[in-house]
Amino acid sequence: MELPEYYLTNCEWEILGKYKQDILNQINEQPFQLVDLGAGDAKKTKLLLEHFYQNEAPFSYVPIDINRDVLEELEDSLNKELPGLETTPVLAEYFDALKWINETQKQKKLVLFLGSNIGNFSKKAAASFLLQMHDSLNNGDLLLIGIDLKKDPYRIIHAYSDSKGVTAAFNINLLRRINTELGGDLDLDKWTHFANYNPVNGAVKSYLISCESQDVQINSLNKTFHFEAFEAIHTEYSYKYSLNEISTMAVQCGFEEVKVYMDKKSDFSDSLWRVVK
Ligand SMILES: C[S@@+](CC[C@H](N)C(=O)[O-])C[C@H]1O[C@@H](n2cnc3c(N)ncnc32)[C@H](O)[C@@H]1O
Repeated sequence: MELPEYYLTNCEWEILGKYKQDILNQINEQPFQLVDLGAGDAKKTKLLLEHFYQNEAPFSYVPIDINRDVLEELEDSLNKELPGLETTPVLAEYFDALKWINETQKQKKLVLFLGSNIGNFSKKAAASFLLQMHDSLNNGDLLLIGIDLKKDPYRIIHAYSDSKGVTAAFNINLLRRINTELGGDLDLDKWTHFANYNPVNGAVKSYLISCESQDVQINSLNKTFHFEAFEAIHTEYSYKYSLNEISTMAVQCGFEEVKVYMDKKSDFSDSLWRVVK
């Protein structure tokens, strides 16, 4: 995320820093919950948290994550940095967590789904995820969703094939984890990372490519897999959207587009959607 080529993080950082008061204004001073889907280290969310806290906004913070360590570290850091902030970490999958929040709390929600996480879904899966999100929220709740925009294809491809090989190492780490967690015998030197971008449908697709014909044993499955030379495993989607596609997706999934915030280069958008029921 700190690579100069990986523009996404800096863009969203710029947007949240610039529009934090405008985002707060949209909630209209009611008591609300700031629900963070896949909070992680909440580095960017902290821009909003600090601002809301300093302005004594009537809110509590509900970070949701499936990673226990991440949530514990986040809670510790918030206790130190923003003492007194009401925080309710929820260790659960997104929709289980939203269901639990709805059953226990009736406050208005501002839900964050940052980092262009939605780009990791195929377009069909993104639509069904957002429809499920709409079903899980109440009329008038707000969703701030970070989405990477279509742009110069060369800039996009460099973000996913960086010069330092960090993205490659990230992708190959999947194989390392198969070795350590599933008892695999993959030789990491026999695999290479490859990413391409399709400017028509906006899909960045990342692959791991077998550099030679090889057999791979995975003990926990008690199975051997054969790979031809240059056979590819598709590992990740990172879809890019146009502003029109984002507006259409909002309406099709039951939301009203309230605001579209962008960085100064118009590389990335954080769209604020209101649930309509
Ligand atoms: C890449 S981090 C994003 C952190 C932060 N929101 C950002 O935009 O920088 C994604 C986080 O989502 C969590 N996560 C992934 N899938 C999830 C799911 N289905 N339910 C809850 N958390 C999930 C991961 O554990 C991880 O901490």
